[in-house]
Amino acid sequence: MTDFYRERQCAESVARRAGHHVVRERARHLDISLKAPHDVVTNVDRSTEELIVEQISNAFPDDAISGEEYGEQERDSDESTDRRWVIDPIDGTLNFAHGVPLYCVSIGFEVAGKTEVGVIYDPNRDELFSAARGRGVHCNGEPLAVSTVDALATSVLVTGFPLGDTQAFEWTMDQFDLLTRGTRGIRRLGSAALDCAYVAAGRLEAFWEYGLKPWDTAAGYLMVTEAGGEVTTIEGGPFSIEDYSIAATNGHIHGELLEVLQSVT
Ligand code: IPD
Repeated sequence: MTDFYRERQCAESVARRAGHHVVRERARHLDISLKAPHDVVTNVDRSTEELIVEQISNAFPDDAISGEEYGEQERDSDESTDRRWVIDPIDGTLNFAHGVPLYCVSIGFEVAGKTEVGVIYDPNRDELFSAARGRGVHCNGEPLAVSTVDALATSVLVTGFPLGDTQAFEWTMDQFDLLTRGTRGIRRLGSAALDCAYVAAGRLEAFWEYGLKPWDTAAGYLMVTEAGGEVTTIEGGPFSIEDYSIAATNGHIHGELLEVLQSVT
């Protein structure tokens, strides 16, 4: 098994550099605009994606790169490749724009559609989450594992709301209602990547959401599986970052959670 050591090193150093850029640039100049109703973007999302793309292309010029703000990058190489970097320069842009210090840089690296490396950097807490397939997940060098909580009633969950999709929005509201009553509590942190990292770290038992994009989950879903958790779609099928729904849990409460989530759809 190749361990993608160079790719992981690159993702870690680029994520750190990008995270420092994000904080510095916010203090220097912040320009907020709307991509769509409820979908905020800033000048810093764009300049950070440019920085990440430049650094990854310098290190791996033949690889494909896909980012939230600029989509698929043009490649110089004529060769086709199954190596792709999937990046979110700021996951949690709404928090970032409003000065809530809950956002991160997320970088996933995949080969033939399978994530091999996932790195998430939270510049406000200086926490670097890093995972490689088959090699576990670490936060600032310390190994992580999902929690051992084995009942929904004693779990703390996290979710997000798909505002562009009325049906999935209604499902989420109904699920939120049921699970607020049936668990220890639910959080809405505003960053899907950090939601996954926190499940991997055993801070939260589960995360579910509809309507996410590949860059939101590319790094995070690998972290949850590498920490010993389970990731499927909400319908219970195998998860891919192209899927419309995600349920990422510590594994122990997976079945119980899916039963409640599916009961409203
Ligand atoms: C958003 C965050 C949020 C989730 C949204 C995402 P962005 O990503 O991950 O938690 O609920 O669906 O779009 O836009 O801040 O990169």
